[in-house]
Amino acid sequence: MEAVIALLPGDGIGPDVTASARLVLAAVAEKYGHEFAFREELMGGIAIDECGDPLPPATIASCEAADAVLLGAVGGPKWSDPNAPVRPEQGLLKLRSTLGVYANLRPVRIYDELAAASPLKAEKLEGVDLLVVRELTGGIYFGAKSRDEDSASDLCVYERHEIERIVRVAAKLAAGRRGKLCSVDKANILETSRLWRDVTDKLVASEFPDIELETLLVDAAAMHLLSRPADFDVIVTENMFGDILTDEASMLAGSMGMLPSASLGESSRGLYEPIHGSAPDIAGRGIANPCGAIASAALLLRHSLGLESEAAAVEAAISEAISNGARTADIADEDEAVESTSEMTDVIIGCLQRQP
Ligand code: IPM
Ligand code: MG
Repeated sequence: MEAVIALLPGDGIGPDVTASARLVLAAVAEKYGHEFAFREELMGGIAIDECGDPLPPATIASCEAADAVLLGAVGGPKWSDPNAPVRPEQGLLKLRSTLGVYANLRPVRIYDELAAASPLKAEKLEGVDLLVVRELTGGIYFGAKSRDEDSASDLCVYERHEIERIVRVAAKLAAGRRGKLCSVDKANILETSRLWRDVTDKLVASEFPDIELETLLVDAAAMHLLSRPADFDVIVTENMFGDILTDEASMLAGSMGMLPSASLGESSRGLYEPIHGSAPDIAGRGIANPCGAIASAALLLRHSLGLESEAAAVEAAISEAISNGARTADIADEDEAVESTSEMTDVIIGCLQRQP
């Protein structure tokens, strides 16, 4: 097949890991006879430096014309002055809402060989395989903000239809997995959460009677994620809770560097990004873990291009590379040899080429 992929390397380690993901996608095209055209565009802090806008109109146009968008990371100390008029993160929020990608899928998969990299005991990690479905274009991230000298406010708004559509996505995904859905809210305090819970209860009961629905308050959920992570199948939650819980969940996998994400809307065009940030402390040193970005490319193949076996081959290649002992610094034991970003990428591409 032919596909156009917009690449937004962004800031920090973003360019390193998107370069890896691009090489893997090119290897997929070569192996399976596809043609992928890549369009690289400015986004984030680097776009502010070059044209004063974290999401220039040319980038938006290119993303809208593409079949899928692969993003590295945005932000860094250079642009982190809270009083700056424009910030890299504004570009990311605008991109998510412009593309209408309200459903952010963050799968947490465990590689047995990396159990030592997680701060949790290995026995707690057995059987962990969960998917967080984070609402991505609503809630407190997008509500009206105000600020004066002595007070500030951020409005959190959720509309019924925004809750319905994200819960439907999550419930459908749960139906294709172990049939368990956990909705996370703060209904003992927040009005938005009370609406969330009400809508979720009714929708799941009427449209997905076979799904087992559990409801947790977000503070309890943060604890249960560590005390019984293997019990979870699909977790659905609002924008900010999902942001926080997925950083926590990434520690089950041993490193933020391992986790991919897919952001989907009504069309097949999705936005794919590793969940790690720009990691300015290691930017440009060639040591970043490319696995999250490469696994995001696998999700791109699956969800935007409909190439399931290619996606599975990329995931198997990552898994084999890890089994064969390939380790970037973030997932290596003290006594283990360490791969650079490009060495890790080469190992994964080698494993991909050997897939059936
Ligand atoms: C994430 C990030 C972003 C978010 C930032 C960079 C705006 O933390 O994708 O999880 O808060 O959504
Ligand atoms: Mg985050």
